[in-house]
Amino acid sequence: MKVLVLMLLTFPTLLNAHGGKTHSKNEVEPIKRSDALVEVYKSINADYEAKIEPIFQAKCFDCHSANSKYPWYYQIPGVNLVINSHIKEARGHIDMTEGFPFKGHLSPIEDLKELKLIIERGAMPPWYYKSFHKNSEIKPQEKMTILNWIKESLVKLEEKK
Ligand code: HEC
Repeated sequence: MKVLVLMLLTFPTLLNAHGGKTHSKNEVEPIKRSDALVEVYKSINADYEAKIEPIFQAKCFDCHSANSKYPWYYQIPGVNLVINSHIKEARGHIDMTEGFPFKGHLSPIEDLKELKLIIERGAMPPWYYKSFHKNSEIKPQEKMTILNWIKESLVKLEEKK
């Protein structure tokens, strides 16, 4: 099973290595800040650090941060290319390294809305990651904690817009 997953993962990237173009939409837009907004960000980030970051650290940081822990199969030729490209792509979408607001290609409000959809659907971590990291699935209790944090944060942000 695991070998099959690795083959599936590796195949498109090997094809891509021969003349395929990689998409780099990693332009990071500067975040607009007023003093009032900075206070809101700080308050949201305080909650994030207390309740959410420990979950994300365990289940998302391998791809969405500068602190990736590489698995044993990273040593397999081809697989390291795949993993590197996933991390690059994941961080282009959302980079959690420095807390909230996340870095990436969306505004903080859009990030939270995107995150909400992803968490509601259980779409992250990706299936192939879950098949190698047994406890990486978001548990129902964690899901509630994250969704509550998103809801409260969106209220705070909408008020200050
Ligand atoms: C194995 C690497 C990996 C892990 C672990 C991972 N992600 Fe992702 N994530 C990606 C990749 C690759 C993308 C971009 C492509 C995509 O949307 O599938 C992405 C995209 C996203 C997006 C943006 C979706 C969009 O359409 O803009 C969000 C939000 C996200 N991930 C949240 C999370 C959360 C929360 C966790 C932890 C619970 C997590 N991810 C764990 C690889 C990962």
